[in-house]
Amino acid sequence: MRKNARPMYWATAALILVFSFGCDLLSPPKEPATGFTEFGNIGELYESYFPIGAAVSGGEYGTNSFTYYPANVVSVFSSFVAENCMKPALIQPEEGTFEWDAADVIVDAAEARGAVVRGHTLVWHSQSPAWMTAGTKEEARARMRAHILAVAGRYTGRISAWDVVNEAVTDYGYRTDSPWYTVYGDASYIQDAFDYAYEADPDAKLFYNDYGVVNASKRNTIKNMITELRLKEDHHLAGVGIQAHWNLNWPSLNEIQATIDTFSDMGLEVQFTELDIDVYGGDGSIAEKVLTDDLEEALADRYGEIFALFRQNAEKITNVTFWGIADDHTWLNRFWDSTYHNDEFRQNYPMPFNTNHEAKRLYMRITDF
Ligand code: G3I
Repeated sequence: MRKNARPMYWATAALILVFSFGCDLLSPPKEPATGFTEFGNIGELYESYFPIGAAVSGGEYGTNSFTYYPANVVSVFSSFVAENCMKPALIQPEEGTFEWDAADVIVDAAEARGAVVRGHTLVWHSQSPAWMTAGTKEEARARMRAHILAVAGRYTGRISAWDVVNEAVTDYGYRTDSPWYTVYGDASYIQDAFDYAYEADPDAKLFYNDYGVVNASKRNTIKNMITELRLKEDHHLAGVGIQAHWNLNWPSLNEIQATIDTFSDMGLEVQFTELDIDVYGGDGSIAEKVLTDDLEEALADRYGEIFALFRQNAEKITNVTFWGIADDHTWLNRFWDSTYHNDEFRQNYPMPFNTNHEAKRLYMRITDF
């Protein structure tokens, strides 16, 4: 290379470098993407496919979703589920003491809108008061029956589907550290739960609900549990709730399809009960992101392909529910790795509406078909 060519060489190299990084080195960070104030009614658009739901609060923890969110936002959903207030620890915190108000708000509001209601959840190892499973198996069994007859009985004929039992297995077997498994000494508490739910409300569709169901190991464990306990044949199981806490890159469409087919082939309904897309993929070390144009597009692409698959399987799917409504309230708005941050707030972007309660690009994408 000629000696006097060096300055020009470096200048050219610098320009190539800048343009090769798409000028990001020079331009200011992109402004957060804005939402849409005009949007279609997703519940109506999907009426011939399946109800489109949202997890809501009825005033527990201080927020009533039906008054907190704009009317034109809440009204697009055709199904609702209690995010927390129907869980055992909240609805019967002490034996014989029932907190009905928040649950009544949700059921009443849903009915006023002609929407269906999912019940969540009757028997779970988490958010369940210790008194329920104290003492002997027979004492715990009697308390389970009393709880389910009281709660499912209060809403008889008003709940379309109950998550009767939530998260009773791990990837490879029963969740043996569940207080219900512990006091029973086996998994027969699951059969009892379905029997008592049927006794309380024979018209409700009774579901087993879990996360990570798209993983072949857990999917097979759930399939084996259903078969081993004869939940469909002898205990009124109607379907499997796939929570669907997913991310931008997982699971694959093939894994979702295989999961739909596994339970549909067993003669069971499939519902996606807690859908959200974590933009951090569960990585607690990633700093908070801005909802940039690129991220809006990635979310729209991801939700777009998922809802296209759902529509292709509409004859097997009987509900799709988002685990929330807007990004200002989602369980994902936190760091999930105490190594880096201990439960600190980190904005996530999993929901169809943004923090300004405007429709996001993903909402426009899944309602344009
Ligand atoms: O907001 C109150 C705060 O005011 C209060 O000081 C604090 C005291 O503990 O509680 C706060 O409420 C928290 C609530 O989330 C806020 O929405 C509760 O502590 C906390 O327990 C609750 O967590 C819920 C979590 O289940 C409990 O396991 C999440 O909202 C809820 O989204 C999440 O939902 C679960 C499903 O039920 C089952 N599948 C997994 C899913 C996500 O974990």
